[in-house]
Amino acid sequence: MYFPRTLYLFSFIALSFASPLATYNDARQVNTFQNPVLWEDYPDLDVFRVGDVFYYSSSTFAFSPGAPVLKSYDLINWTPVSHSVPNLNFGSKYNLNSATDRAYVKGIWASTLRYRESDDTFYWIGCVESSKTYIWTSSNAGAYNNSGEVNSWNWKAAATLNKCYYDCGLLIDSDDTMYVAYGNTNITVAQLSPDGTSEVRSQVVYKSPTYIEGSRMYKINGTYYIFATKPASAEWVLKSANPWGPYEQKVLVDSIAGPLPNAGYSHQGGIVNTKDNDWYYVAFMDSYPGGRIPVLAPLTLDSAGWPSLVKNSTGAWGYTYPLPVRTSKTVPPPTGVDTFSSPSLSHEWEWNHNPDATKWSLSSSGLTLETATITPDLFTARNTLTHRIIGPKSAGTFKLDISKMTDGDRAGAALFRDVAAYIGVHKTGSSAQLVMVNNLTLDSSWATKSTGTINATGPALADGVTTVWLRVEADITPAFSGTSATRYTTFWYSLDGSVYKQLGERFAMTNSYTFFTGYRFAVFNFATRGLGGAVTVKAFEMEKV
Ligand SMILES: *[C@@H]1O[C@H](CO)[C@@H](O)[C@H](O)[C@H]1NC(C)=O
Ligand SMILES: *[C@@H]1O[C@H](CO)[C@@H](O)[C@H](O)[C@H]1NC(C)=O
Ligand SMILES: *[C@@H]1O[C@H](CO)[C@@H](O)[C@H](O)[C@H]1NC(C)=O
Ligand SMILES: *[C@@H]1O[C@H](CO)[C@@H](O)[C@H](O)[C@H]1NC(C)=O
Ligand SMILES: *[C@@H]1O[C@H](CO)[C@@H](O)[C@H](O)[C@H]1NC(C)=O
Ligand SMILES: *[C@@H]1O[C@H](CO)[C@@H](O)[C@H](O)[C@H]1NC(C)=O
Repeated sequence: MYFPRTLYLFSFIALSFASPLATYNDARQVNTFQNPVLWEDYPDLDVFRVGDVFYYSSSTFAFSPGAPVLKSYDLINWTPVSHSVPNLNFGSKYNLNSATDRAYVKGIWASTLRYRESDDTFYWIGCVESSKTYIWTSSNAGAYNNSGEVNSWNWKAAATLNKCYYDCGLLIDSDDTMYVAYGNTNITVAQLSPDGTSEVRSQVVYKSPTYIEGSRMYKINGTYYIFATKPASAEWVLKSANPWGPYEQKVLVDSIAGPLPNAGYSHQGGIVNTKDNDWYYVAFMDSYPGGRIPVLAPLTLDSAGWPSLVKNSTGAWGYTYPLPVRTSKTVPPPTGVDTFSSPSLSHEWEWNHNPDATKWSLSSSGLTLETATITPDLFTARNTLTHRIIGPKSAGTFKLDISKMTDGDRAGAALFRDVAAYIGVHKTGSSAQLVMVNNLTLDSSWATKSTGTINATGPALADGVTTVWLRVEADITPAFSGTSATRYTTFWYSLDGSVYKQLGERFAMTNSYTFFTGYRFAVFNFATRGLGGAVTVKAFEMEKV
């Protein structure tokens, strides 16, 4: 997912898109879906199907657990059900050790996930920091004999290769051979050993005249395909009768409009077929400040096996298409309330770097975050828990029990990225002060440039106040291309859970792509003086506004 910056910027010569405000009636609505299919930051996707279940893997940089696995029965409604990398085993900097020993923007980039029937195992493969490739597996999944359903995941670190499968895509061939397509510009195919944990052969199969990356490998009707992206505007298709080539090339999409205004082009992604053998392309579009979000369109294959995207009547990626699959099976919606009452965190949540497991716990009273780091810097504090923001506009509200905070502690609800802000409680001695802090900033090398500025103070909290509700209301409507608009976030507090007051100025989000991850809601608790304090997160609610 990295590419020469000049190339990338060149791709974003301002374009103005037509409005996507499609009009359709309720009768049509049940027969069609709208793009984006899931308005959340799930980039670098890999999609595949096992039985009735579609699976989706995504990149997560230094968030932990990494590489979420989403499932869907209809390609439209998705929910995260697991993470392929339960802890980032890529070196100690992934533990957020200090201000100079951190892994922002490193970690999991474009990686791959597939299910292998012969050993009933899911394989996740990803290159980290352009040097090593990590393989994680979840065996005895049971998916083969259960219509694709997995009842328990048991991810384990299966192997580390001293070689980078940059932006890789796994294919499990019909004869069970495992191939990995990877690289940029020169696309290479590697063949893995029968157990999938080492390499037996690799060979450059395609030399591109221009920069491409993000390989996904498929076999359809006896023919091998490698889909690759020309960032950040096009998707290419390479096709061959043999996994080792030679490959012919065609362009699947190049700089086509839609489906959302002021986003980038729909480009990098993967393809998947339904049980009826209808093919779909799931791509992502750069939609900062929200990150990179998935959009779906049908594909047709011609008699020679070349795919074409089904465009709408104006030649754009459509805003709506017919539903791919009719099914009564459903997944939970992305919005709603989490009371942290399960024995483990839901897969909606990811920590900023690997957490200190001794400093957080779940109990009948909620999620307890003990302070894990003494620092003035949110970007250096361990155990900040993040949640994707659903677009175009949503509010994330945390209900916090602050009664166990101690002198110097800072806890609250953040809008988390490299240019961040938060609403929270600063505890000094025995007094607790509501504050809105903005201007928390990382520089372009991801070193902390500013630990933030108190933009506004709320009322001092009286001794008896144990519970505060902190709300972050974010507008992540794309403002990445063809507009100079700024999107804003506002911060709110309540002392009774019903009346909210805004605190501080509205916060201007950055639309830059260089941090890659979009803005997230986050809850944090760190110490500036000494450890020992704690907050309990009683509930979190995400709702569209
Ligand atoms: C599926 O079930 C059959 C019959 O019980 C069994 O022989 C086979 O090993 C199972 N396959 C997997 C992948 O579990
Ligand atoms: C691709 O491979 C050729 C040699 O076959 C090499 O000269 C060239 O530098 C490579 N390009 C990239 C981008 O790695
Ligand atoms: C598979 O490919 C053959 C020729 O290569 C073609 O005749 C046939 O129609 C294809 N089948 C499907 C289902 O696309
Ligand atoms: C085609 O899609 C584009 C963007 O998705 C949209 O702006 C345009 O109105 C659509 N045209 C029709 C005829 O639906
Ligand atoms: C933001 O932080 C930087 C670095 O500490 C500081 O120079 C600047 O004045 C701050 N800006 C605001 C608006 O507080
Ligand atoms: C609060 O933030 C706004 C927006 O960044 C800024 O214009 C204003 O000067 C800040 N006020 C204080 C008191 O820092």
